[in-house]
Amino acid sequence: MPVITEIEDLKRIYRRRVPKMFYDYTESGSWTEQTFRENVTDFEKLRLRQRIAVDMDGRSTQSEIIGEKVAMPVALAPVGMTGMQQADGEIKAAKAAAEFGVPYTLSTMSICSIEDVAEHTSKPFWFQLYTLKDEDFMDRLIERARAANCSALVITVDLQILGQRHKDLKNGLSAPPKLTPKSIANMMTKVGWGLEMLQTKRRFFGNIVGHAKGVSDPSSLSSWTAEQFDPSLDWGKIARIKEKWGGKVILKGIMEPEDARMAMQVGADAIVVSNHGGRQLDGALSSVAMLPRVLDEVGSEIEVLMDGGIRSGQDVLKALALGAKGVMLGRAYVYGLGAMGQAGVTTALEVIRKELDTSMALCGRKRVQDLDRSVLYVPEDFGGRWKP
Ligand code: GLV
Repeated sequence: MPVITEIEDLKRIYRRRVPKMFYDYTESGSWTEQTFRENVTDFEKLRLRQRIAVDMDGRSTQSEIIGEKVAMPVALAPVGMTGMQQADGEIKAAKAAAEFGVPYTLSTMSICSIEDVAEHTSKPFWFQLYTLKDEDFMDRLIERARAANCSALVITVDLQILGQRHKDLKNGLSAPPKLTPKSIANMMTKVGWGLEMLQTKRRFFGNIVGHAKGVSDPSSLSSWTAEQFDPSLDWGKIARIKEKWGGKVILKGIMEPEDARMAMQVGADAIVVSNHGGRQLDGALSSVAMLPRVLDEVGSEIEVLMDGGIRSGQDVLKALALGAKGVMLGRAYVYGLGAMGQAGVTTALEVIRKELDTSMALCGRKRVQDLDRSVLYVPEDFGGRWKP
């Protein structure tokens, strides 16, 4: 058994184990990938203040997000095609999250369906909704999420059209993978992955295949989004979805203070400062650089979460110290899932919690609620001297 001490260890195993097409899907940003890279490197600009002689006994990372108790203020982000990274991936990730005590978000573009995940897990999860042209189908998705007892609807508001990720086009990304000489040659080197995939029936977009009409290639994420996603999404439609759902709503994909204000006006319960992991608008500033601006606008009025670039518990600590109520983890848990299945997701969460707990103690704080900007050194020009 390899000794796993950091998320990077899981990523190395993941890369060896999973077909290139799915590794690349995870490890991509759009176009030049500048935003994808800066989501990570901007965290390095924030530094921590070491404090001493503070009683460190009785520490706790427990918190609440949208009124739900969490073992630490981290949720698993919606990630498309998770069930291609590992057979039955969504079910395994949801189980790991439930056992650990953090929310799991199921993507619309999942392989295992809403019903399937609900049937195989014991705790409510969150459902992520893309806004679709076919309102009937979208309304049915909302009903299905309700019937599955999902405790929040996470509406992704930054993907009406798909940002171009060069690698996905070059690899011919699809679920299940198309059999070409190149993909077969690569899959033959991923024996463990392949054997497990052969034993499951879950190899298609489970929320969609058999439920939606008029899709030319139901295996292709890019043709799906181009044909089905609603480019005319506006605040009125977001308000309509919120009303239809009637429960907790989290809007994910907000970067600008004025959009955060609008999110409040439509009655969102929380927002996620996010540039979709650098996968949509390349050239946008990093999520962590935008976080303080959004917090200054709405931080005292609404729960602000963030995602993008979190690869360690120290990153979580920095986001919390800036004022976020919690963070979402995407790639960091997918590495674990692809590397070691459910146990890998648990390991990723344990690594993050341990780093968060230890760093918090070394900063002289015992509870995540005690983290604030005074544990950070923030460079004067953090976020850049950009002007809109
Ligand atoms: C969304 O599903 C993505 O691929 O970023």
